[in-house]
Amino acid sequence: MRERWTWRGAFVVAAIGSAVGLGNLWRFPYVVYDSGGGAFLIPFLVALVTAGIPLMMLEYTLGKKFAGAAPLAMKRAKPSFEFVGWWAVIIGFGIITYYASILAWSLRYLVGAFTLEWGTDAGTYLYDTVLGIMPVLEAGAYGSLMGIAPGLLVAFIVGWLSIFFIIYSGVKGLGKVVMITMPLPFILIVILMIRGLTLPGAAEGLNFYLRPDFAALANPQVWLAAYGQVFFTLSLAMGILIAYASYLPKDADISNNAFMTSTADAFTAFVSGIAVFSVTGYMAGQLNVPVNEVVASGVGLAFVAYPEAISLMPVAPALIGVIFFVTIFTLGLDSAFSLTEGVVAGVMDKFNMKRKTAAVLVSGLAFLVGLIFISRGGLLWLDQVDYFLNNFGLVLVGLFTCILVGWGYGAQKIREHINEYSEIKIGVWFDICIKFITPIVLIVLLYLNLVERIREPYEGYPAFMQIIGGWGLMAVVIILGVVLMLIKTKEKPQAEEGEV
Ligand code: ALA
Repeated sequence: MRERWTWRGAFVVAAIGSAVGLGNLWRFPYVVYDSGGGAFLIPFLVALVTAGIPLMMLEYTLGKKFAGAAPLAMKRAKPSFEFVGWWAVIIGFGIITYYASILAWSLRYLVGAFTLEWGTDAGTYLYDTVLGIMPVLEAGAYGSLMGIAPGLLVAFIVGWLSIFFIIYSGVKGLGKVVMITMPLPFILIVILMIRGLTLPGAAEGLNFYLRPDFAALANPQVWLAAYGQVFFTLSLAMGILIAYASYLPKDADISNNAFMTSTADAFTAFVSGIAVFSVTGYMAGQLNVPVNEVVASGVGLAFVAYPEAISLMPVAPALIGVIFFVTIFTLGLDSAFSLTEGVVAGVMDKFNMKRKTAAVLVSGLAFLVGLIFISRGGLLWLDQVDYFLNNFGLVLVGLFTCILVGWGYGAQKIREHINEYSEIKIGVWFDICIKFITPIVLIVLLYLNLVERIREPYEGYPAFMQIIGGWGLMAVVIILGVVLMLIKTKEKPQAEEGEV
């Protein structure tokens, strides 16, 4: 028998734990920042409603109805759909390889927080002490790895051991761990938000965060960033939610769980934004500069601007530092193991492999590949790969899922299944989103993005980075997905049922 969640509510707690992650406290504020502030919130909400929530329900239904991780669930919907399940799993694998390195940053900062090791110059701390990237930048050797960053290896190993043992312990273990990793960071974020709001100058930061700039809505890149962020933050198109839903009993609710997951996630992102931007407002006041000049690059918001602001705080700065990095680590941990679980479950289903073997193989391989991202030059590769996997990879999986399942299998059949078991009944708007609105928006965005990237490389990185970490990577995802589909699935023999 397939593993099952061991307590009622474990699924939704795990799904929220997966959704709420680095995407909320690290990525969301910097995407908002890079998109010009408050302008971003409108496309984000539109993307959440038109694509995020419907696709989440669709993924929950696929996993539960077909009792399989993404590839098997897609295959059971229709054998020729399996490749999309593999695309999701391979992209999830790609994401976990660098996601774990950011977890390692947070552990490294956590150790440093006890003594506020970064002082007033968290930029030097991040780039020199933690990432060790300065020799790469000084030599202008973009794309060179130049060895492992000494400041990160131990943290990276500790991060991976945590992920590995949780996955190794199975769905039962997952269900237990999320009882802590889901609520704890949430409580801590609220504490951080209150701290931020009670600092002088917080209002300036909030003004930057919440003031809508309608002109930015005409920029397609802002919309693309919004859809990319919604996929990332809700853990969509990565094979995670399908795998998690495959451990649900047949009569489990779908729509209620999807609304709870997406609301909890969006709310946490919003609150994280308040926590981070109120502090940047405070810092701007202390340094006497406008908010948008507090950080040179949005990516550094959580790891440069926030730590620097902590150092300026009047009361118990080290405590706030520790809370902040415990929050980032615990937020990221349950997303990290959900990403790994999506891959492990896909491999177990396909090759009839035992969980423990699959956990060793997948974690071991992801650890090895991830060494690239903790190399001295790793940050640039991380940025390159993150951009392509999110803006092309997730969007492509989302698009194919909508078209194949929506049209080829039938959005209506999915809706009927949802309505049969769920408290909240879903109307035809669901079919309209899955069959028309989401695919049309995604096609337009993919097209615009393709044109943009052909015109100029992402961030002006060298062509070989674009080829290896961009187009080549996408080609590998696409081809490997099809190859895996063509390999025969080893169906689980009846005699081995009950084994995990
Ligand atoms: N949904 C996860 C996050 O936001 C991947 O970090």
